[in-house]
Amino acid sequence: MLVRFSCFLLLMGHSYSFPHKLPHGKVLKDGDELVSASGKFKFGHFTPSSTPYSSKRYVGVWYNKPTDRTKSLYNEDEVQSSSKVVLWIANRNNPILHKSSTLRIDSSDGNLKIFPNGDENPVEITSVGAVRNITCVSLLKSGNLVLHVPYLNGSINHVLWQSFDYPTDTLLPGMKLGINFQTGHQWFLQSWLAYDSPDQGRFNVGMDPNVTSQLMVSCRGQVDQTSGDLVNGKFKSWDIIGYNFSYISNKKEKYFTYSVSEDVTSFPMLQIDWHGSLRDDRGQSIASCSMFDQYGVSDEYKRPRTCNASNSYLVPKSGFMSGDGIKLRESDNMTLADCRQKCFKDCSCVAYAAANRANDTGCEIWSRGTEFKESNDDNNSEIYVEFIPPVVDSQERPSNRSSCSSSGDIVVFIELCSKKKIQRTRGEVVAVTNGCFIGTSVMLLLLFSLEETHSRR
Ligand SMILES: *[C@@H]1O[C@H](CO)[C@@H](O)[C@H](O)[C@H]1NC(C)=O
Ligand SMILES: *[C@@H]1O[C@H](CO)[C@@H](O)[C@H](O)[C@H]1NC(C)=O
Ligand SMILES: *[C@@H]1O[C@H](CO)[C@@H](O)[C@H](O)[C@H]1NC(C)=O
Ligand SMILES: *[C@@H]1O[C@H](CO)[C@@H](O)[C@H](O)[C@H]1NC(C)=O
Ligand SMILES: *[C@@H]1O[C@H](CO)[C@@H](O)[C@H](O)[C@H]1NC(C)=O
Ligand SMILES: *[C@@H]1O[C@H](CO)[C@@H](O)[C@H](O)[C@H]1NC(C)=O
Ligand SMILES: *[C@@H]1O[C@H](CO)[C@@H](O)[C@H](O)[C@H]1NC(C)=O
Ligand SMILES: *[C@@H]1O[C@H](CO)[C@@H](O)[C@H](O)[C@H]1NC(C)=O
Ligand SMILES: *[C@@H]1O[C@H](CO)[C@@H](O)[C@H](O)[C@H]1NC(C)=O
Repeated sequence: MLVRFSCFLLLMGHSYSFPHKLPHGKVLKDGDELVSASGKFKFGHFTPSSTPYSSKRYVGVWYNKPTDRTKSLYNEDEVQSSSKVVLWIANRNNPILHKSSTLRIDSSDGNLKIFPNGDENPVEITSVGAVRNITCVSLLKSGNLVLHVPYLNGSINHVLWQSFDYPTDTLLPGMKLGINFQTGHQWFLQSWLAYDSPDQGRFNVGMDPNVTSQLMVSCRGQVDQTSGDLVNGKFKSWDIIGYNFSYISNKKEKYFTYSVSEDVTSFPMLQIDWHGSLRDDRGQSIASCSMFDQYGVSDEYKRPRTCNASNSYLVPKSGFMSGDGIKLRESDNMTLADCRQKCFKDCSCVAYAAANRANDTGCEIWSRGTEFKESNDDNNSEIYVEFIPPVVDSQERPSNRSSCSSSGDIVVFIELCSKKKIQRTRGEVVAVTNGCFIGTSVMLLLLFSLEETHSRR
């Protein structure tokens, strides 16, 4: 009882300057945040900045980066969301579809849970067995969210659970990649499913199970890239500048971890992005799945081979369709990513858009027979329209350049890059997703040439 009380008192004492603790009995509402003592990390509810209007709410930890002052011309909410670098997600497969959920420690078992609807059907974040009523949650200076039993003075006595043991797609200094032999628990990173969907994707980073002295990127279950051995804090095949790796191997566990010098990197991270590239904090690609072409796009974005236009792209444009589309009745909780999948799988689909334009939810798809009409009217919203790249050469053998633009693989980049462009012209800021990092100049060139050929048609 006393112990529980002291965690509470400590919070009261520091609640303004260091709200980094959530003690038993306290509630963190959607909109409330824990801030690490360093001020560098925040924990709370968020919507990914790639889908600012989506209603899907996630709970997690992100970098509290200072706002870029050059962006202050724009709407403040947008800037804040765009500067959010998400590092860890508690409910990546279980988004909450409204903003009235709360977080608290469940007094019945001492675990941290999300309560989407009052006391009903909580979503567990931690699941430690048989702990008493005395647990406390803290967001540490390292960005590690821990459930712990506090000392009388409130400091951590022992840790029961930590987010660092359950990485999402990002490795922070102090986190591990490897295996604990006693519990069998493995530490690995797993990518997002798509740039706008944090669901579990198909690319992992972890210790190579066969060659435990190196790291690997695995792509859809296949080991694809390996780091080579570690020598003096550096991997032989992976050049990760400014990151000092170490390898710990003993009876209990084997793992890699790293440290950085604060002077070199203020917001360090290693992140496996949604199409299989491992990147550092500067967006520099360290290793990419080789099963992809030079533009690194995955099969999920290609139409089924049985479709006629299997090399087509879906490109965002401003305008409207000549006929009515079909509004999928499934519900309003479909995201644009869900909608894109529907359209891609349906050979007759020539365009898709969010049915609820205000919050980018729902899904409307148009079948062959309806035409897209371009218009720059303010009232028109974004529609993703099929674009079939022209075959330039009459001969079978395409030239170097046209073989790039008709490869069918660059759709995602075009989508991302032109989405950004469209949003910009509307005076909105949307986070530039990693997709645009890879060979930006090449992509811009391609985009340019595609648009050019398209408008000439
Ligand atoms: C999005 O907007 C539509 C129309 O305004 C609304 O019916 C729907 O409930 C909203 N979706 C969510 C999940 O908030
Ligand atoms: C936990 O605390 C609540 C209220 O503070 C109390 O009703 C309950 O009996 C306690 N449970 C245990 C296991 O101590
Ligand atoms: C809190 O108490 C523990 C054990 O009594 C002690 O080790 C620790 O240094 C104390 N922490 C602070 C901040 O006083
Ligand atoms: C590990 O080695 C075994 C035997 O050589 C091989 O069958 C297996 O595919 C390898 N596993 C990985 C993940 O490379
Ligand atoms: C890298 O880390 C190791 C162990 O943590 C340390 O001994 C070494 O001095 C560090 N090297 C550099 C260049 O910081
Ligand atoms: C494929 O295209 C050809 C020629 O345009 C057309 O005749 C045929 O009906 C199409 N097939 C499908 C399945 O759309
Ligand atoms: C949408 O919500 C319904 C029920 O509310 C659920 O069954 C369905 O799985 C949800 N779909 C998505 C894509 O989240
Ligand atoms: C937008 O639509 C509204 C109502 O449909 C119309 O009154 C208005 O003129 C339109 N704005 C533009 C710029 O066309
Ligand atoms: C593309 O150009 C390179 C160098 O000019 C050449 O080696 C290669 O064969 C060309 N590829 C195609 C598909 O024409």
